Amino acid sequence: MDLHPFVRDIQDFPEPGVVFKDITPMFNDPKALNAAFEGLLDLVNGKPVDKVVGMESRGFFFAPMLANKLGAGFVPVRKKGKLPYTTLSETYDLEYGTDVLEIHTDAIQKGEKVLIHDDVLATGGTASAVCRLVEKLGGEVVQCNFLIILDFLNGKDKLKGQEIVSLLNY
Ligand code: PRP
Ligand code: MG
Repeated sequence: MDLHPFVRDIQDFPEPGVVFKDITPMFNDPKALNAAFEGLLDLVNGKPVDKVVGMESRGFFFAPMLANKLGAGFVPVRKKGKLPYTTLSETYDLEYGTDVLEIHTDAIQKGEKVLIHDDVLATGGTASAVCRLVEKLGGEVVQCNFLIILDFLNGKDKLKGQEIVSLLNY
């Protein structure tokens, strides 16, 4: 199933000059939702996975579904100050300034195989910060799995050495 018709371009969102890739039509349509989920699973290609890490907030759409199907646990990475237990933090670059992502320190055990999932790879700041969090806890990143990669932003350059896959590229 071609999923491109279910990704909608929104001009000037969230600010002038930006064309936002809106994936809500894909979630709205039961067949597209299933095709996207099955497509993301196929990209995992049978790799053993202990934990799926998804990042707040759009990474939360598919990461727990993938974890459940893969027989893995789900680990949320959240923006600063949202996780209640002891956390590890990583700073990452935004277009203007920086932000902080956090993970619970007991969420990943040493040697666990970790799949990282997010909706979009743009500049790569978010995903590279999540890789650092996972690796600091002793996890092994087995794949960075995205619904969409915005190739023109070269986010892959920030994920050197990682396996990077996506369903759609722009
Ligand atoms: C968006 C998107 C990715 C990230 C990609 O999330 O969902 O997580 O940006 O950008 P990058 O590769 O340049 O880091 P955003 O931080 O806008 O928040 P949201 O998921 O809560 O909407
Ligand atoms: Mg996000």
